[in-house]
Amino acid sequence: MRLGVNIDHVATLRNARGGIHPDPIKAAIISEEAGADLIVAHLREDRRHINEDDISNIIRNINIPLQLEVAPTNFMFNFAIKNNIKKVCIVPEKRKELTTEGGLDIKYNFNFLKENLPNLYRNNIEVSLFLDTDMENVNLCLELGVNAIEFHTGEIANTYGEDEKVLIRRLEKVIKYAMSQGISSRAGHGLNFDKAKKILNIKYLEELNIGHFIIGESIFCGLSEVVKKMKKIIG
Ligand code: PXP
Repeated sequence: MRLGVNIDHVATLRNARGGIHPDPIKAAIISEEAGADLIVAHLREDRRHINEDDISNIIRNINIPLQLEVAPTNFMFNFAIKNNIKKVCIVPEKRKELTTEGGLDIKYNFNFLKENLPNLYRNNIEVSLFLDTDMENVNLCLELGVNAIEFHTGEIANTYGEDEKVLIRRLEKVIKYAMSQGISSRAGHGLNFDKAKKILNIKYLEELNIGHFIIGESIFCGLSEVVKKMKKIIG
């Protein structure tokens, strides 16, 4: 199981004072040294955390892949191509949301994706879509020729007891179906040590992308320790 560390919230803290500290590049370097398999960053339309300079500096300073999360827009796709990004995860984006609140509405974006994904593929960019756990979403990915999905785990993160078990079983079933169709599966959103433990045994789940908890917990324990512990749990 790969661990992607999302460093957006280091930039959120930096931007709160408008200065240069804490530096998300340093967070990326420490995460890599502590065993992260990839660094994840979301370039938002309102640039509330990561900005363009951060992206090029991260790429220059790490030896593991950067996964760039972007909204489905021409600007963001062109940015990924121009900056030689290798991995792109396409996410929904609303200006007023506090965080990415759900998966991409793939039906609504179908025509844009059909027309513009080939441009990413031509530039050797590995593409995944951030989606809700739904068989229909897997079928739509097949129609689009998308071969990687990151499933949004926000609902699992906020649910406990029997309902949580039901959601995890549904995720398991959809991932199994995706695998049978040649689509690889990742997961992320709202995960912490406990939630990661609960989903790590799902067969064919290849990667967890975690941001808010890792950065928040590192205030108490240090980023390196938290990444190492998460890596040990899921590894
Ligand atoms: N994966 C994707 C595609 C995301 O957009 C995010 C952030 O919303 C995450 C993972 C990480 O979520 P969190 O910060 O809640 O761990």
